[in-house]
Amino acid sequence: MRVGQACPVADPGSTLITRIGELVTNDGGGWAAVTDAALVMQDGTVAWTGPASRAPAADSVVDASGRAVLPGFVDSHAHLVFAGERSAEFAARMAGRPYQAGGILTTVTATRAASDAALRLNLRRLAGEMLRQGTTTFECKSGYGLTVGDEARGLALAAEITPEVTYLGAHVVPPEFAGDVAGYVDLVRGPMLDACAPHARWIDVFCEDGAFGADEAAAILEAGRARGLGTRIHANQLGPGPGIRVAAEAGAASADHCTYLTEADLDTIVSAPLVATLLPGAEFGTRHPYPDARRLLDAGATVALATDCNPGSSFTSSMPFCIALAVRDMRMTTQEAVWSATAGGAGALRRADVGQLSVGARADLILLDAPSHAYLAYRPGVPLIAAVWRSGRLAAGAIP
Ligand code: NIG
Ligand code: FE
Repeated sequence: MRVGQACPVADPGSTLITRIGELVTNDGGGWAAVTDAALVMQDGTVAWTGPASRAPAADSVVDASGRAVLPGFVDSHAHLVFAGERSAEFAARMAGRPYQAGGILTTVTATRAASDAALRLNLRRLAGEMLRQGTTTFECKSGYGLTVGDEARGLALAAEITPEVTYLGAHVVPPEFAGDVAGYVDLVRGPMLDACAPHARWIDVFCEDGAFGADEAAAILEAGRARGLGTRIHANQLGPGPGIRVAAEAGAASADHCTYLTEADLDTIVSAPLVATLLPGAEFGTRHPYPDARRLLDAGATVALATDCNPGSSFTSSMPFCIALAVRDMRMTTQEAVWSATAGGAGALRRADVGQLSVGARADLILLDAPSHAYLAYRPGVPLIAAVWRSGRLAAGAIP
């Protein structure tokens, strides 16, 4: 047994991480963690977990020295294909100006003007940020192109680096269709869908005043579903609305934002069921009230946490930041927040292979520079991600 060696370049063989202070596994579906633990990974998956005292031998060994190991974060909602930035808009909001969905068009103009290379560079820079902060699976939406060609190229770029690609041609109505919303909806569910579906796994609609109404959203999701795409929705972000009902009727995996929910919405989320994906970075960046995670959890809903990383409402790529906000301002326990950022995100993407460290799961994991998961909220803003493995290979950080 070799001690303290990094994974070799080709086949890392089996790797034992031992003397783990707290190993979060989410084994069995709910929160699960063991202390004084060890984990073996081999061939890209988790091969063994249990007490450190009973750990088997392996080709290489990492000594966690009492620190915590968690599943890699699953960021199930992000908009990473764009050009430009909107810091002036953010500064104005912080000075009292309200958030308006129309700001999206500023980014649409910049994105249409950008080269493929510039978009690819920005996308990969953000994906790299995510990885260094512990995110091992992420979803990526289009939605800043809003022409057939620009939406399709955005999705093709996203598909280069993640399988969780979402077609969001229905983000807002672009200026060339102002006054002809029906014409744009026909484009989104017709020729644009034809060009985009081959690159995507999901279809999404921004169902909100100023974006798309219930009938339009339902028609677009139905067209996507008929093409084999899974459905998801932006709903009830800026005010109450029909989005939750539309999502349930479309068989959506997830309703995202859920900031303004009626009792009927809550019932629909629980009974459909829909994963309620909460995006506290958006409330941070728009000064809207945070969604009431406690109300959702107490009603029995499955909650996911995600970044909503985008240049307008939520320009963060940090799942640890979202966890800290959820614990501090959304009345989630530290365990609930970490579960929602891992297994919850996996549920929102209907993935059984990530978000947990059960035997057979993908060996996507984080070594924290802290003894427990709670430090992610207890020490907000501190870079606690010491090392990240993806499919059993060291992908960021350094092995002690
Ligand atoms: O999820 N709500 C719609 N889309 C993004 C915001 C996009 C933007 O402002 O550029 C969101 O918050
Ligand atoms: Fe979003």
